[in-house]
Amino acid sequence: MLGFNSISIDFVKFILKLYMIEIVTMGKKINVAIAGVGNCASALIQGIQYYNSNSSQKDSIGLTSYNLGGYEPSDINFVAAFDIAETKVGKDLSEAIFSPPNNALQITDVPSFDVKVQKGNVLDGAGNHFSEIVKIADSIEVDVQSVLKDTKADILINYLPVGSREGSRYYADKCLEAGVCFINAIPVFISSDSKWQQKFTNKGLPCAGDDVMSQLGATVVHKTLAKLWVDRGVAIDETYQLNIGGDMDFYNMLDEDRLEDKRVSKTSAVQAMVPYDVPMRIGPSDYVNFLQNDKVCYIYMKGRFFGKVPLELDLKLRVPDAYNSSGVMIDAIRGAKVALDRGVSGPLESISAYCFKHPPVQMSYSSAKSNFIDFIAGKIER
Ligand SMILES: NC(=O)c1ccc[n+]([C@@H]2O[C@H](COP(=O)([O-])OP(=O)(O)OC[C@H]3O[C@@H](n4cnc5c(N)ncnc54)[C@H](O)[C@@H]3O)[C@@H](O)[C@H]2O)c1
Repeated sequence: MLGFNSISIDFVKFILKLYMIEIVTMGKKINVAIAGVGNCASALIQGIQYYNSNSSQKDSIGLTSYNLGGYEPSDINFVAAFDIAETKVGKDLSEAIFSPPNNALQITDVPSFDVKVQKGNVLDGAGNHFSEIVKIADSIEVDVQSVLKDTKADILINYLPVGSREGSRYYADKCLEAGVCFINAIPVFISSDSKWQQKFTNKGLPCAGDDVMSQLGATVVHKTLAKLWVDRGVAIDETYQLNIGGDMDFYNMLDEDRLEDKRVSKTSAVQAMVPYDVPMRIGPSDYVNFLQNDKVCYIYMKGRFFGKVPLELDLKLRVPDAYNSSGVMIDAIRGAKVALDRGVSGPLESISAYCFKHPPVQMSYSSAKSNFIDFIAGKIER
């Protein structure tokens, strides 16, 4: 009888906690700044607009849930945006997302935000391939830290081009100076780097990342297949994952010098699922301009099962790339705001493991998802 009572008291406490989360967050906005108004920013902003206009149906396809930790997609409020391209700087964010070389599919109209894209610090954001296509805006760089403070940004999302190590560190530093949470969508190691983790912990700020993991993209499919093979007792002998696409991200990725962190990020996500070393080649492979924002991925796995009999798997996946990451990012933003509300600082382990390829702690997809849900419910601290 005592056991039953204690279970029911715990259950009542849990339900009350969920209601408290709802009450505490009701009517609260999440102020978000964006560094890099490319295809990912376009898909994220259009996606939020799409969910806002369909809120009566509470459509949650592509989201963990419509209401997460008391926050709905409509609570995400864009307050600032930074870019360096002449085609985007000075425009309203709602217009800049449709400016070239962006080529993500348009799924909805976006009303004006009254948020002008401001010129950021160029640094290594403009690589060789980028500079062939994009003219850098003449306007003067803004003081990013002041903009973040003046606009009361809670979170900055880093969407700079692949390989922007200096640029990513610059925006992470600005977040530390302005007291803003940093979400790193790109394959440069900040949230998974112990020095940066310490900097965010010292400032009492959370950070999440690195390198956003798409909803149904090459990484989550490949790592889940690798785990399945291991769980089913199949020895993996070799595997590759080749990716092609036709957007600016893939054009930038023709520059092998900018790709080092991307390869590490994608490869480590798959290798972490296998308890022995497997010869593998994983990464972006070519630019095919007519694919536009579609990404095609080819996964190959070779191994042995019962009686050491050989088997092979070949898989092709084609997805609109930018949209593949936006639902995940809406979850990451809401999770990070829950962390801010609770005063959690340093690397957000469960959010990062669920939403990113190179998190501080690598987990299988199913563990990452249950930890993420437990974090939102307040059952685990980070
Ligand atoms: N599913 C996905 O699309 C996905 C998945 C994982 C990671 N990523 C990463 O997310 C990042 C963004 O992807 P994308 O497709 O939007 O790229 P993109 O090339 O379309 O956009 C990058 C934007 O950053 C701007 N920029 C360049 N230097 C800048 C600077 N110093 N300050 C401010 N802005 C600057 C560019 O002008 C451009 O608008 C890339 O690094 C990509 O590798 C994307």
